[in-house]
Amino acid sequence: MFEYQKSGQYFALIAGGMEEHGAEEFTELGAQNVKLSYRGIQFEADPRTLYILNYQTRLATRILAPLISFNCHSTDYLYKVAKSVDWTTLFRVDQTFAVFASVANSHITHSQYAALKVKDAIVDCFREKFGSRPNVEPVTPDVWINIHIENNHAVLSLDTSGGSLHRRGYRTETGVSPMMETLAAAIIRLTEWQGEKPLYDPMCGSGTLLCEALMSYCRIPAGYLRKNFGFMFLPDFDKTVWETVREEAYHNFRQLPEGLIAGSDVSGRATKIAIENVNHISSGNRVTIKMLNFMKIDNLENRVIVCNPPYGIREGNPEEIAKLYTYLGDYLKQKCKGSTAYIYVGDKELLKFIGLKPTWKKPLVNGALDGRLAKYEMY
Ligand SMILES: C[S@@+](CC[C@H](N)C(=O)[O-])C[C@H]1O[C@@H](n2cnc3c(N)ncnc32)[C@H](O)[C@@H]1O
Repeated sequence: MFEYQKSGQYFALIAGGMEEHGAEEFTELGAQNVKLSYRGIQFEADPRTLYILNYQTRLATRILAPLISFNCHSTDYLYKVAKSVDWTTLFRVDQTFAVFASVANSHITHSQYAALKVKDAIVDCFREKFGSRPNVEPVTPDVWINIHIENNHAVLSLDTSGGSLHRRGYRTETGVSPMMETLAAAIIRLTEWQGEKPLYDPMCGSGTLLCEALMSYCRIPAGYLRKNFGFMFLPDFDKTVWETVREEAYHNFRQLPEGLIAGSDVSGRATKIAIENVNHISSGNRVTIKMLNFMKIDNLENRVIVCNPPYGIREGNPEEIAKLYTYLGDYLKQKCKGSTAYIYVGDKELLKFIGLKPTWKKPLVNGALDGRLAKYEMY
């Protein structure tokens, strides 16, 4: 029996600043005994709930099922324990796999070497049993194995998501600085928008915020477009339960009313990409996206405005970018009566150029960037 089968415990990876919201989301979706951890949450779930979580979570990037955990001070011991796992109960020799490792504060310091040792153990396990071995596929393997070693304690897990859940499948192309889908989903969640007022993104880029708002409003699971999940490789995977989970979610969908979600961008290329992306999602044809400089929009009154203005060096020189934030602040003050704006910036220093006092500011990591989401209310 694997560890997750004995304990019913799993670990979900969540970006910095989103852990609490992730814990809230997991509790809503049926996870039990949810506990916060650094960039993740620990929780308990039965198999059905595990499928729901992988299918529905908008905030977590992966859910790991621990197979075995042990104290580990050397790579030889890591190999020995990894080889004691019967990998042949998880996948077949004709399926591909990859091992991903992370190490912290441990005698084993090289994550890649740790991954290599686990890979060797898996290969040797198959060879001894069948005389042949499965191939490694580093980018899109069938089976994703995870080894995490922290303070000389190792946890060997199967990634039940089967690759990062931020890959929803709707984004085939991106603009200059696209935002992670999980981050966009966290922003939409923090707006608490339920469709009471129209939602507008005046600098929509490739449309990630619009896509996440659409999926959230229409109750479309974040994993709706994904074909495979790692949990399908668990030895106790129950296909009938999984099909019921999908069907139940499908019956819960709702249509998007015309005009409820819209956006624009000054770039023609970004606008085209956003239209394509949003149209990969059901009801996406009801989202209006236009090529427009936000300063030319008559007004954006009585709305929920979400927006991720340019901030990086790739998007213009720092002086121009600072000026753009001042124009945005002026626009919000003068043309957005009755609206609430949620502005996300990758560089928190830029918020001061908006010249408005935010109701709150929340830290939200975007990859390596220590970003902030600020809320502004216009009366
Ligand atoms: C950081 S990107 C937005 C990324 C977007 N959230 C995504 O996920 O793809 C900023 C966007 O602002 C747009 N932009 C810059 N100045 C603008 C303006 N004056 N009016 C409208 N859009 C503008 C850029 O073309 C760019 O697509």
